[in-house]
Amino acid sequence: MLGKILICCCFLAPVVSADLCRPGAQEAFKVRFNLKAALGEKAYTWNSDEEYLFKAVMAFTMRSYTNNDAFEISNIVLCNITKRVSFWFLVTSPVNSSVPVPSLTVEHAIRNERNRINSAFLLDDKTLEFLEIPPTMASIVNHNKESWLIAFGVVVGLLAIAALLFIGSGIQNYRRRKTVQEKLEEITEDQDQTASGTTNEYVLASSNRAFADDETCEDVLTQF
Ligand SMILES: *[C@@H]1O[C@H](CO)[C@@H](O)[C@H](O)[C@H]1NC(C)=O
Ligand SMILES: *[C@@H]1O[C@H](CO)[C@@H](O)[C@H](O)[C@H]1NC(C)=O
Repeated sequence: MLGKILICCCFLAPVVSADLCRPGAQEAFKVRFNLKAALGEKAYTWNSDEEYLFKAVMAFTMRSYTNNDAFEISNIVLCNITKRVSFWFLVTSPVNSSVPVPSLTVEHAIRNERNRINSAFLLDDKTLEFLEIPPTMASIVNHNKESWLIAFGVVVGLLAIAALLFIGSGIQNYRRRKTVQEKLEEITEDQDQTASGTTNEYVLASSNRAFADDETCEDVLTQF
């Protein structure tokens, strides 16, 4: 009699779990894997090994969140698996496998290990979707941080370019003035030697013009 009951229980247990997992059930979650979009040609095919990995990762996720409650892969129940990979799953209590773990606990556990889950399947928040669990605040905050960093980088870059241009033009102006001054000095020295009044005036006048218009400076000076 007792044997019969035990056999009956063992036979019933998985049936009960499978019954718990239904599309839209309160504690169930829908998952969608977009392998083609994420991996293109290198996309692996979803099979029972991948299913096993998912169960193992979820059991790990639950253990990690609950501080080592003894979740096994048998506590992760999958149902309604479609070819273009999506399915529903539900987590059952390690103490009593006919009692589902509240969805809020599972949700927190998944958020807690989202990166580990993603990386186990070489996917990200967009290509591995938990439909009832929108991407975490953490990733949104990171995203904002990234765009701020980009904006900051652009502004700093522009400021640096402006500073370089300013310094560059300053140096160029300084060099031009210096050469004009040097040439002026050379000319006055020459004129001290020749002591010619009229040319002296002409030279000073053209030098002054040259000072105002640097481009023509050398042309004017080479005449002498
Ligand atoms: C889910 O699977 C069950 C059992 O295979 C089936 O009866 C049910 O119609 C499926 N539900 C959906 C929404 O595909
Ligand atoms: C498991 O939970 C079910 C449903 O709440 C209950 O009927 C059953 O007695 C429990 N089994 C054990 C071993 O606690």
